[in-house]
Amino acid sequence: MTGTESLSAEPGAFEAAVYSRSEDPHLGAVVVSAEALQGRISELGAAITRDYAGRVPLLVGVLKGACFFLADLARAIELPVEIDFMAVSSYGNSTRTSGVVRIVKDLDAELSGRHVLIVEDIVDSGLTLSYLKRNLAARHPASLDVVALLVKKGLQPVDLQLKYEGFEIPPDFVIGYGLDVAERYRNLPYLATYVED
Ligand code: IMP
Repeated sequence: MTGTESLSAEPGAFEAAVYSRSEDPHLGAVVVSAEALQGRISELGAAITRDYAGRVPLLVGVLKGACFFLADLARAIELPVEIDFMAVSSYGNSTRTSGVVRIVKDLDAELSGRHVLIVEDIVDSGLTLSYLKRNLAARHPASLDVVALLVKKGLQPVDLQLKYEGFEIPPDFVIGYGLDVAERYRNLPYLATYVED
């Protein structure tokens, strides 16, 4: 495909070209469309803009899954923001939690006195987030809150006090918009269920 042709492509053509449901038996039903994701992210950005007026929030993205969400959310916030990333590992290449959270990459920024907003892709057991909150709270930020795009309802043993939530989804394993299985499907522009063998 040339650059000229891609300009005139029909909506959805990109999705069809990259991952095809008929050719990939693992690609299940759409859980949240690309349009619904962008609409909700605009609303979250507007709420954050309102709540953090006069401050410069530090958005802490949890790699790798949250990178697409953070990039879109940051552009929906009409305030100066700073961004930083952390990488934690809790699943390896499996679709089930190992129960072990490990910091693979730490932040560059100092958190002391900062208004920190953790940007999380998905909360499943809540294990990763509760570990992160404890770890970052110990660095004395002025405030520490969470925006989670997806929450699998009913699975979290403790109330994680999420300040902002995008969508409540059923407890199926999902792929796309940053979420992977063994590093694949992250660039799917919508969320779909993953069909196991
Ligand atoms: P938790 O610690 O069980 O809440 O899991 C959080 C992390 O597991 C997320 O940041 C994701 O990286 C990964 N994860 C949980 N559920 C899914 C899913 O349905 N698809 C892809 N990754 C997931």
